[in-house]
Amino acid sequence: MALKKKLYINGEWIEAKSYTELKSPYSEEIIAEIPQATEEEVNQAIDAADRARETMRKMPAHQRAGILEKLVRLLESRVDEAARIIALEAAKPITTAREEVLRTIQTYKFAAEEAKRIHGETLPLDAAPGGENRIAYTVREPLGIIGAITPFNFPMNLVAHKLGPAIAAGNTIVLKPASQTPLSAFFIAELLEEAGLPKGALNVVTGSGRVVGEKLVTDDRIKVITFTGSPEVGIGIRNKAGLKRVTLELGSNAALIVDDGVDLNKVIPRSIKGAFSNQGQVCISLQRVYVHENLYDAFVEKFVAETKKLKTGDPLDPQTDVSALITKGDVERTLSWIEEAKQHGAIVATGGNAEGNVLVPTVLLNADKALKVSCQEVFAPIVLINKVKSVDEAIEFVNDSRYGLQAGIYTNDVNTALNAAEKLHVGGVMINDIPTFRVDHMPYGGVKESGVGREGIKYAVEEMTEMKLVVFNRN
Ligand code: SIN
Repeated sequence: MALKKKLYINGEWIEAKSYTELKSPYSEEIIAEIPQATEEEVNQAIDAADRARETMRKMPAHQRAGILEKLVRLLESRVDEAARIIALEAAKPITTAREEVLRTIQTYKFAAEEAKRIHGETLPLDAAPGGENRIAYTVREPLGIIGAITPFNFPMNLVAHKLGPAIAAGNTIVLKPASQTPLSAFFIAELLEEAGLPKGALNVVTGSGRVVGEKLVTDDRIKVITFTGSPEVGIGIRNKAGLKRVTLELGSNAALIVDDGVDLNKVIPRSIKGAFSNQGQVCISLQRVYVHENLYDAFVEKFVAETKKLKTGDPLDPQTDVSALITKGDVERTLSWIEEAKQHGAIVATGGNAEGNVLVPTVLLNADKALKVSCQEVFAPIVLINKVKSVDEAIEFVNDSRYGLQAGIYTNDVNTALNAAEKLHVGGVMINDIPTFRVDHMPYGGVKESGVGREGIKYAVEEMTEMKLVVFNRN
């Protein structure tokens, strides 16, 4: 019988009125029954978060850090179990799932450290006439209840990017994990309970976006919405959120520029990882490569050869590189996008077909910039390789996008690198690396339809706190 999960509200595990089946994206076997919260249950979760606000606000920094440190220790002792949960519910290949757990540990470590250094600054008010003889300083105060809505593609680490800074800053949280990947979130809630997080400080409510998401976004007691997901949903949230702070980490069609003269033995393995890790279901997955014409043929030959070596299959098999897409609908969608590309002159250098719910890693050449595979976020193991005459031409292609999350450039010329860093219209430029590079304390976020605000613990803490000014008049 499938595991029956419960809602986590006010430190209690509560049976819900209705349930849906959670199936493995790979085998389609039922792996759990997931509670579908009603609006009333979401309301109870917000009530609980509201009641816990004072406790969290008054909790000293060392104690908040201590809870996060204990969570780190608990997670370190259960890495294999955590990786298996991710692999089962998200079909993330187990070795990649393990990498995610190790990153999650890092994220909570950074949060524990950050909890101890949230501070303001002193201001020289006498810089303005009339400001003499005053002492002024700022402090950062928790905003209150954080509504966190997380995606399926990093079900543990992207939850950590919301819970970690929220707890570090003394906030409370109502979390709605992605419908396909709630098990990772429930697992972390269990560990946080064991780590001593006060009742009500974290509440986990699963269910539909229409009920749970809608309530979180529209309830006035929630002060911040932090969302990772699609631009369509993100823009809808922003339109409804009123005066709430809103941090949106949305999609992209991330690109890499490969300049003449670079060492392909370095570039190719990184590019393969960037394009196909987690089946390309990463917001900064490498989707478009623009290669200098002098290197193009060699790049394509090597890249295709390496792509063909990738092993597809069961996410629980340690040999698997690429497994199932998150839904059958995504397999159908991506196959139809490949078909559209073929009909408009693109060449399928390898892949282009599916085996069950696994889209075989696909390389497309000569894909026009107007095609869906070029200008939309594919979120699948599909990469386009295009020839350019110069880095400047490549920069124009990269910038010709509704998105702007991260971009990469490999070049041996420092001026070319710095010029690209200046001109690329994205949230982060990776010089001599793929756009997919991320470690968990760096500022992470995009421009254009890739979102607003930044994650990376220190930056997320800024989004989740309010600056207060204190002025002491000594006159
Ligand atoms: C994302 O898909 O937005 C997260 C990417 C990452 O954390 O590596």
